[in-house]
Amino acid sequence: MAQAEIGLIGLGVMGANLSLNIAEKGNTIAVFNRTAARTHEFYEEAGALKDQIVPCETIEEFVAAIRPPRPIIIMIKAGDAVDEQMKLLEPYLSKGDIMIDAGNANFRDTMRRFDALKDSGLTFIGMGVSGGEEGARHGPSIMVGGTEESYRRVEKVLTSIAAKYDGTPCCAWLGENGAGHFVKTIHNGIEYADMQMIAEIYGILRDGLGLSAGEISDVFGAWNKGRLNSYLIEITEKVLAAADPISGSPIVDMILDKAGQKGTGKWSVIEAQNMGVPATAIEAAVAARSISSAKAEREAAEAVLGLPKVAPLAVADKAAFIKDLENALLAAKIGAYAQGFAVMSAASKEFDWSLPMPEIAKIWRAGCIIRSQFLDEITTAFTKAPDAANLIVTPAFAALVSETDGALRRTVSAAVLAGLPVPALASALGYFDSYRRARGTANIIQAQRDFFGAHGFDRIDGADSHHGPWGSGLNA
Ligand code: 6PG
Repeated sequence: MAQAEIGLIGLGVMGANLSLNIAEKGNTIAVFNRTAARTHEFYEEAGALKDQIVPCETIEEFVAAIRPPRPIIIMIKAGDAVDEQMKLLEPYLSKGDIMIDAGNANFRDTMRRFDALKDSGLTFIGMGVSGGEEGARHGPSIMVGGTEESYRRVEKVLTSIAAKYDGTPCCAWLGENGAGHFVKTIHNGIEYADMQMIAEIYGILRDGLGLSAGEISDVFGAWNKGRLNSYLIEITEKVLAAADPISGSPIVDMILDKAGQKGTGKWSVIEAQNMGVPATAIEAAVAARSISSAKAEREAAEAVLGLPKVAPLAVADKAAFIKDLENALLAAKIGAYAQGFAVMSAASKEFDWSLPMPEIAKIWRAGCIIRSQFLDEITTAFTKAPDAANLIVTPAFAALVSETDGALRRTVSAAVLAGLPVPALASALGYFDSYRRARGTANIIQAQRDFFGAHGFDRIDGADSHHGPWGSGLNA
């Protein structure tokens, strides 16, 4: 057999599926796993794809099986394990070989690993892969960071396995060092916001309107045929329709309301804060997961405080109200994506990446968890205005915000008055209201800062007096 085009270490769920995808697209792949038994099991189960797979028992054998310069995908748990694996691999590699971390790494680790290899002749790619198990097997969205030269070595294989949107592969080189993993992190931050906003709308339908899981499933099913059409809305319809084989109840009603999180949402928020870019919808979503996980504390708090003593949601026209929820979700989604793209735009300057915004929107249109028709609209908006300060001031999205923000305002107001928590929806509304208002209220904050700390302020008339006349005053 000819030498393999690429190698992969780590035959867990994601690694195994990615390997089968690579083999299926006609590429020969060498595979290695820490335990040889798993490598054999994987190979034996590969059926007709066996011809494209070279199972290896030792690192030495594995490296020798790959055509130099060797691209080697490392698909193992993010963190220290990646450093350990790299250390084990390094002695067997030669000049030009490329180690590719395809896990959900913190981009700061990716930058460190990239820098550490700088003078070694080897190089490193940090590659964000989205789409879960199914995506890995049949077409993920792939976000690559590293040298352009190293990307060119793997471009053919990666574009062959990536999801396609209208025939265009959802795979791109986004910049040096940590660019790919940074973009994947923000993808996940947006994913958190998308999911939280869906959960808040579900809460209004369940606790405000008293609809059953099946009825709510129908609502999401109808929305999936409209402008909200997306993978997350599609799976929400499906999970709400699924029955629990044990109790016969809707399975969602049997699932404990405690959300897990592995870190990418939190990293998005930390990096946004580091750069001074508001990402309030993502922050709200991360915080909501944290509150959700404190189940025992919430139970104790409800016992002490009770639910808010407010009138229940009063809805005169149910159909009109549900239409408002659909538009509110669309408006809030725009806020979350606008924030995510603004964070990437700031990071692009901060880390010298030149992140291509239209390209990012393009490769998120298929394969990844946030894939949607909406991302095609973002692609068009950023293609027409690649330097727009914010998605919401591009003509198409300004029009969409004007059309839908009334629904978001009515929805948030109704939910707040009924005591239903909608932190992510409300944060998107607050973002629009602050961002579009030329005259804000920070003049008071500047005055307070100057009053207690002589921090100074800029004047609106440009006059040369930058400290307050505190003590004397209009009411003196
Ligand atoms: C994807 C997903 C994937 C994974 C997240 C979930 O793009 O395929 O985002 O990366 O599902 O790690 O993250 P949490 O466990 O933090 O929700």
